[in-house]
Amino acid sequence: MINKNIKIYVAGHNGMVGSAICRSLKANRYLHVIGKSSKELDLRNQQQVNDFFKDEKPQIIIDAAARVGGILANNNYPYLFLMDNLLIQNNLINAAHENNAEKFIFLGSSCIYPKLAPQPLKEEYLLTASLEPTNEWYAIAKITGVKACEAIRKQYNKDFVSLMPTNLYGPFDNFDLQTSHVLPAMMRKFHDAKINNNADVTLWGSGTPMREFLHVDDLAKAVLFALQNKLPNYLYNVGTGVDLTIRELAEIMQKVTGHKGSITWDATKPDGTPRKLMDNSAMKNLGWEHEVNLQQGIEQTYQWFLNHVDQIKEVKI
Ligand SMILES: NC(=O)c1ccc[n+]([C@@H]2O[C@H](COP(=O)([O-])OP(=O)(O)OC[C@H]3O[C@@H](n4cnc5c(N)ncnc54)[C@H](OP(=O)(O)O)[C@@H]3O)[C@@H](O)[C@H]2O)c1
Repeated sequence: MINKNIKIYVAGHNGMVGSAICRSLKANRYLHVIGKSSKELDLRNQQQVNDFFKDEKPQIIIDAAARVGGILANNNYPYLFLMDNLLIQNNLINAAHENNAEKFIFLGSSCIYPKLAPQPLKEEYLLTASLEPTNEWYAIAKITGVKACEAIRKQYNKDFVSLMPTNLYGPFDNFDLQTSHVLPAMMRKFHDAKINNNADVTLWGSGTPMREFLHVDDLAKAVLFALQNKLPNYLYNVGTGVDLTIRELAEIMQKVTGHKGSITWDATKPDGTPRKLMDNSAMKNLGWEHEVNLQQGIEQTYQWFLNHVDQIKEVKI
């Protein structure tokens, strides 16, 4: 059992993932959870990070801080996506190591796996072939984080572990059409079209790629599981094990938002990886499983969106 007074630092606690993890820690009565915004502590700055660790000495670190974005942002800002993520994670991992933290949970994403890897994606497929070019900058940074945690685990026998969630959605997502991921972008497009006299909606690509989506509260439960248990391996996928086409997702979104117009598919825009389904059997065998059904999760998230429509997050680069 982990002592509920242990000092836990959630890096990126204001983000969609970080805030879900904080909600889950609070619900499970962890009493000493700390966080800093990027304005208070720029994690790209090594000196600031080292000073923070020296002062605070967190015993457990959950790294949910990253420069995150969809295909468009990744494509347009390759250096930012590579370098910001490398700097953030290197500073955190090394400071945690040097300050003898007990545990480090690193969050990456399913884009670390090769573009044409067999499906469902197993952890062992890491570094077996080329990445999807549209997000390889982000993916290479994340792979480096996974490997840094694996190396510390091997060399120093420390509990540094990496969780790779599939596509996430939920409250506090980024709904900016230039920088967001597919699900929140679709929600925003259908909502805006609905209130604009059910205008037509144009969606990117062919609609045929298959994607898997996990509610962020389910990921937070997986993080809690990794916090409370010493996981035997260095890398775990976190997903539902079920995927659908982007076209099917659009149909759910249209139904949930109540949009009555038509949909056009813009095939001049990139599709990305044809399929990205995670094999979640390793986490499942240890005892974690998702709970939120996709349609219900989208309904809840749209309700949250409607309740926060004046203050929804729009991440600008
Ligand atoms: N969203 C997804 O679909 C998805 C899927 C798989 C994996 N993940 C992983 O989950 C993690 C979090 O993603 P998210 O969706 O929660 O992203 P998010 O909502 O954009 O949150 C990212 C957080 O990182 C912090 N951050 C960024 N740059 C920083 C800097 N230089 N210094 C300090 N803090 C900084 C931000 O802090 P401020 O708010 O204070 O600026 C923000 O709270 C990432 O590692 C991502 O790879 C996300």
